[in-house]
Amino acid sequence: MIYLDNAATTWPKPKEVYDAMDHFARTTAANPGRSGHRMATESERRVQEARRCVAKLLNAESPDRIILTFNATDALNIAIKGVLRPGDHAVTSLIEHNSINRPLAAFDVSKARAAQDGTVPPEEVATLIRPQTRLIALTHCSNVLGVVNPIEPIAKIARERGIPLLVDASQTAGVVPIDVQAQRLDLVAFPGHKGCLGPMGTGALYVRPGLAVRPFREGGTGFASESERHPDEYPYHLEGGTPNAHGLAGLAAGLQFIEQTGIERILAHERAMALRFIDALRGHPKITIYSGRAPDRQIGPVSISIAGKEPAQVGAMLDERYEIACRPGLHCAPGTHRFLGTFPHGTVRFSFGYFNTPSDVDAAAKAIEEVAAC
Ligand code: ALA
Repeated sequence: MIYLDNAATTWPKPKEVYDAMDHFARTTAANPGRSGHRMATESERRVQEARRCVAKLLNAESPDRIILTFNATDALNIAIKGVLRPGDHAVTSLIEHNSINRPLAAFDVSKARAAQDGTVPPEEVATLIRPQTRLIALTHCSNVLGVVNPIEPIAKIARERGIPLLVDASQTAGVVPIDVQAQRLDLVAFPGHKGCLGPMGTGALYVRPGLAVRPFREGGTGFASESERHPDEYPYHLEGGTPNAHGLAGLAAGLQFIEQTGIERILAHERAMALRFIDALRGHPKITIYSGRAPDRQIGPVSISIAGKEPAQVGAMLDERYEIACRPGLHCAPGTHRFLGTFPHGTVRFSFGYFNTPSDVDAAAKAIEEVAAC
């Protein structure tokens, strides 16, 4: 299989990720932070190692500001429902994933338009802020287009207006450098199973020190059990119940792989694969390419359509005839497709990862040309 669906989840993972999960499951997998015996203590150490690796990836002030979640949607729900109250206003954009659209639907929301290249202009965000605005929630990178948003100027506007900025880093964490202190970000949500190279069922939320977030879930934390109230201490304030310790063992190994490889190298490779693909298809009379309009902001996901062919049909042909994995349709981001004029059928998305090679890219481009011709 030529796997070009890394925006949905990266595959394969580094060997170290499989090894770490296997070793943890066979030797260490007691309930972390509970019980006090040596297996439980080692299991807890591994969970905290994952937390430290995430904190290092983001340059967070402390690992305690990292909430370990089950995916990006979980992290975004914790942030949105923990910050906003009924009647509050929020600013977001028209090119968000449903993991932001849907939790925000219960609130009063204004949505910024995207520019022609697919980025969200900071001045557009600024014009939508009102006295009742309590949150700005934006994707760092469209999961359909693969274009990275100018997050620093938006963070500056948010800071000047005293409004927390929540960044959905689902497509960027582990691929695009993020420094929450230098970039002055308040909340950053992301999955562990995409660019961070960990397994599904893992994710994280960074919460800036001093920012008040109400708990989304309450329950056992393994300490202060005499109290019926959920603890105020971070990170446990926003965590509860048994964590996905098997997955976190893999996430730590994925993040260590990224650190050893170098995130800049990963970014350069992913961008090179995406731009090679765009170049190979550019100018084809039947193919429309929606990505790559800001090449220096492009990362792995690239959306195209073929005249006269439904995206779902193209995806099925590529799978059945060419053993190429891609994702056709709306990508859980209907607003992005309305912006592109590709609603309701969507596009065919190819998303490149660190383990894709130039020959994967060339084989996919050739297959698409053949599909377009038939
Ligand atoms: N959010 C993931 C994607 O864009 C699943 O494919």
